[in-house]
Amino acid sequence: MKAVWVVGLLVVVVVRWVRGYDYLDGVNVIATQPLLVDLTLIQSAKEKGAVCLDGTPGAYHLHAGSGSGANSWLLELEGGGWCKDTSSCVYRKTTRRGSSNYMEKQIQFTGILSNKPEENPDFYNWNRIRIRYCDGASFAGEGYNEAAGLYFRGQRIFSAAMEDLMSKGMHSANQALLAGCSAGGLASILHCDEFRALFPGNTKVKCLADAGLFLDVTDVAGGHTLRSFYEGVVTLQGVAKNLPGTCTAKMDATSCFFPQNLLSNIQTPTFLLNTAYDVWQIQQSLATKNADPKGYWQACKFNYSKCNDHQIRFLQGFRNQMLDATKGFSNSKQNGLFINSCFAHCQSERQDTWYGDNSPNIQNKGIAKSVGDWYFDRAEVKEIDCPYPCDKTCHNLVPR
Ligand SMILES: *[C@@H]1O[C@H](CO)[C@@H](O)[C@H](O)[C@H]1NC(C)=O
Repeated sequence: MKAVWVVGLLVVVVVRWVRGYDYLDGVNVIATQPLLVDLTLIQSAKEKGAVCLDGTPGAYHLHAGSGSGANSWLLELEGGGWCKDTSSCVYRKTTRRGSSNYMEKQIQFTGILSNKPEENPDFYNWNRIRIRYCDGASFAGEGYNEAAGLYFRGQRIFSAAMEDLMSKGMHSANQALLAGCSAGGLASILHCDEFRALFPGNTKVKCLADAGLFLDVTDVAGGHTLRSFYEGVVTLQGVAKNLPGTCTAKMDATSCFFPQNLLSNIQTPTFLLNTAYDVWQIQQSLATKNADPKGYWQACKFNYSKCNDHQIRFLQGFRNQMLDATKGFSNSKQNGLFINSCFAHCQSERQDTWYGDNSPNIQNKGIAKSVGDWYFDRAEVKEIDCPYPCDKTCHNLVPR
């Protein structure tokens, strides 16, 4: 009887392991206990109106710094798409992306948020914060829809979180980094100079956008899927007034929600970390169901090794547009770049991509080392990979 239980348990463990493994190709996930960090509601969020879509307070997770990192602050803006119309925003109210009532009370801090030097050599002992994303417009909206009971208070959440953290010691920071992934990566670009302005001139302040390079491109049907989507977000949530004025003076607000139109005006040193074949953009911007009604892209968009020559050529075109969009930006000495030719999305939060034995690298230089070298001015970092399929170090996402 006992033997049956042991065999049964073994089967469960093996099945779990295989399923987890299936999302990656050839990657071993490091198995140490990650740090768990409690959820904190933003002080006076209600009175400042710094609330999620459903009116509940904005929130973050903070793990205090220590030793040489006690006066260093790393803020990471959480990602998680956007909502562009009333029904999709109303839906979010019943999820962690639109209500602090539904947020995890504790989350794991891994990758750039890890507290272990062997997982996160440069930032492990900093004050590290993940600001939760529950507004649906990259922390940039301002408005209220009474009929639907929707609060669009992204900008207020950002500002109230900053005030709260300032009162918890960030006012005496000697160095700070505003980071974020996906919609949070876009938010770190949108808020970078605003963040910089919170600190005195002699504080070292920089920004990191991971998987935030959402491009204004033509989809596989010749349409503009992401532009139409962003137009909905910007209009519904009153984003225009919070976008950088240097951009909105020159072009329409929707264009100014695209990083390619913002990068050349950012004054603060910024690092762009992105895969050239961002899987989110392939699935949600280039080859959506609407743009590909016959499902010609179906196999390719879920498994890059099933893409045919024509599809690969299309994706190389996408990579070229990404490199073009960063040309001026990368000419500036203060900025950094790591664009690897992989099929993934968000590489700074996951331990296996951020820092480990077989993490992705370009010319033997991994992501954590690249970001650290740039942040601490140890070296100029402009790492642009050769095009697919030359990189054998990728941790590609192959969702089922
Ligand atoms: C992806 O496609 C390749 C080639 O057809 C195949 O060998 C592999 O098993 C696929 N991966 C997944 C996770 O489906």
